Amino acid sequence: LFEAPEKFDIHRKNARRHVSFGHGIHFCLGARLARLEAEIAIETLSSRMPSLRLVADQQLEYSANITFRGPSRLMIDWDR
Ligand code: HEM
Repeated sequence: LFEAPEKFDIHRKNARRHVSFGHGIHFCLGARLARLEAEIAIETLSSRMPSLRLVADQQLEYSANITFRGPSRLMIDWDR
């Protein structure tokens, strides 16, 4: 079980046990590719827009969905 599962916390101690890519014999075959793509996309974006940041103290809203769980939007800001 995850402590305070509703909280967005990238520093969780047991973060490696998440089930975003499923688990067991049906664990996502594309997990390595998806992680690599995400790494490249995030590195490229942050190098091109170094001032990109999350808007502080925003109230997160979650969409009702039994398979996907995540904020319905995440507000960002950057120096123009
Ligand atoms: C962020 C991206 C992705 C997420 C969050 C994701 C998530 C998942 C999840 C949760 C499952 C398990 C479904 C179940 O238990 O029924 C799964 C299975 C699978 N995924 Fe992904 N996936 C992603 C990207 C990809 C990519 C890029 C590929 C292929 C290039 C891929 C191919 C597959 C396949 C073939 C399975 C079925 C594995 C099996 O049933 O043995 N996925 N994925």
